[in-house]
Amino acid sequence: MDKFYLTTAIDYVNGKPHIGHAYEKILADVIFRHYTQRIENCYFLTGTDEHGIKIQKTAEGRNITAKELCDENSQSFKSSWKELGIEYSDFIRTTDERHKQTVQKIFKKLVENGDIYKNQYKGLYCSGCESFLNARDLTEEGLCPNHLKKPEEVTEENYFFRLTKYKDAIIEHIKLNPEFILPSFKVNEVLKQLEEIEDISVSRNRNSVSWGIAVPDDNEQVIYVWIDALSNYITALGYDTENPSEKFMKYWPANVQVIGKDILKFHAIYWSAILLALGLELPKTICAHGWITIDNSKMSKSIGNVISPIDILKFFDLENADALRYYMVTSAPFGRDGNYSDVDFKEKVNADLANNIGNLLNRTLNMLVKYFDGEIKSEFIKNDTDIEKAVTETVVKYKKFFDEYQVSEAANVIVDLANTVNKYVAENAPWTLAKEGNMTKCGEVLYNVLEASRKIAILLYPYCPNISKAIFQQLSTDINIKFSDIDKKLFSGKITDKNKIKPVFPRIDSEFATDKKKEKN
Ligand code: MSP
Repeated sequence: MDKFYLTTAIDYVNGKPHIGHAYEKILADVIFRHYTQRIENCYFLTGTDEHGIKIQKTAEGRNITAKELCDENSQSFKSSWKELGIEYSDFIRTTDERHKQTVQKIFKKLVENGDIYKNQYKGLYCSGCESFLNARDLTEEGLCPNHLKKPEEVTEENYFFRLTKYKDAIIEHIKLNPEFILPSFKVNEVLKQLEEIEDISVSRNRNSVSWGIAVPDDNEQVIYVWIDALSNYITALGYDTENPSEKFMKYWPANVQVIGKDILKFHAIYWSAILLALGLELPKTICAHGWITIDNSKMSKSIGNVISPIDILKFFDLENADALRYYMVTSAPFGRDGNYSDVDFKEKVNADLANNIGNLLNRTLNMLVKYFDGEIKSEFIKNDTDIEKAVTETVVKYKKFFDEYQVSEAANVIVDLANTVNKYVAENAPWTLAKEGNMTKCGEVLYNVLEASRKIAILLYPYCPNISKAIFQQLSTDINIKFSDIDKKLFSGKITDKNKIKPVFPRIDSEFATDKKKEKN
């Protein structure tokens, strides 16, 4: 693999970012950071989806223009991502000129090729979903199953995209490429949806939706959300129907497109068909993650349990987002739903980051100072074969998990490795060795633990970049986070700044957190 291109869904901006949005961006950032450890040319795109009736209506309700609403909320997504350490390469907004112009060219090309045609459309439209619904998808009461609202009956002249033309090609692609849809337990769901597809309406009359990109050569119609939104993955790279940019040629097709399970159909089917119609390659993998619930309930404005990721950082008074990043992406196995609760959060990060990984380093460094004044002589340095074997096995499993985007599973093997090293400390009891005067063995044990901690810092980097860097600093080694540095032996046995030893992740104090919670309520 000589390049890596990763995208996320682009978020609607009719509200502020919540931890569901954050979950996806953190997941993507963890995958991305891991690949930057392995590959030179990596590119990470995220952004905001700003057109459509919902934005129009929210803006009307607040008495501001749609653009003003988008500017305000898009900025709030950007600043949240900064606080969460999401290091994207580009942030696309569907109101960007570069995007709008290319979307019009795409639309035009699809019309010219006969993939888009005009027809009467009569259907049930849900403004919450920004989509026409099939009668069979409604609840028994005739409501939209997602928004529990009655869809509107709409008849209008629309442009249609010939989705059905690509049905067979998409089915074949899915069957020939087992890595196209991950997790693989989602494949059958998509194949079933494919059996039922119809051509889709891709424009709306300007009288019903005005906030959108104009259909080229037709003032009456605006391009309806999905063609507009999905195209961001290529418009951001500088795709052009005539003259695609170098960046596009370098990065497309995407290696992985990270999205939520609710929009898998739009990506695996609609997006694939658009790409086929444009004569472009399909992404290598579409990775559908599960949803995050709050205290086991669906997040919703009406329940009032929508949580901002930044409020969690404030609530626990965290210096950076490492703990939240770690907790969020380990909250569910690959593709399954996860849950956020304050109590679980505190317990999980205290157990894994403070007690297991952090304490291992901290007590060993303190012993290094106590017994060796911070420096193990080179003659005491010998590699323990069991620890080396555990590291090698961990790295193989970890890499395989990341090859399949199994972020939560990869984190578990880091914790397993730290457990193994903690066990090694307990079994060898360096404090007893020191007391008995067996300094050779004592030095050997401390050295092996600290070298293993350096390797753990490399594995932990995608999840907790700040903790990872703090580990390197306390070990007085350069910050070598390249994946290939795991095989090296870069801890010298000596630390230069004995006074800087402190827990890399201080425990979140339970009483403190409980008190703060009381204050909040
Ligand atoms: N704008 C569309 C996506 C267009 S992509 C070309 C959209 N926006 S969204 O704001 O509703 O959702 C953005 C992403 O956040 C989606 O992938 C969605 O699945 C994800 N999530 C929204 N709520 C979520 C949770 N509660 N949990 C996890 N992810 C969730 O859909």
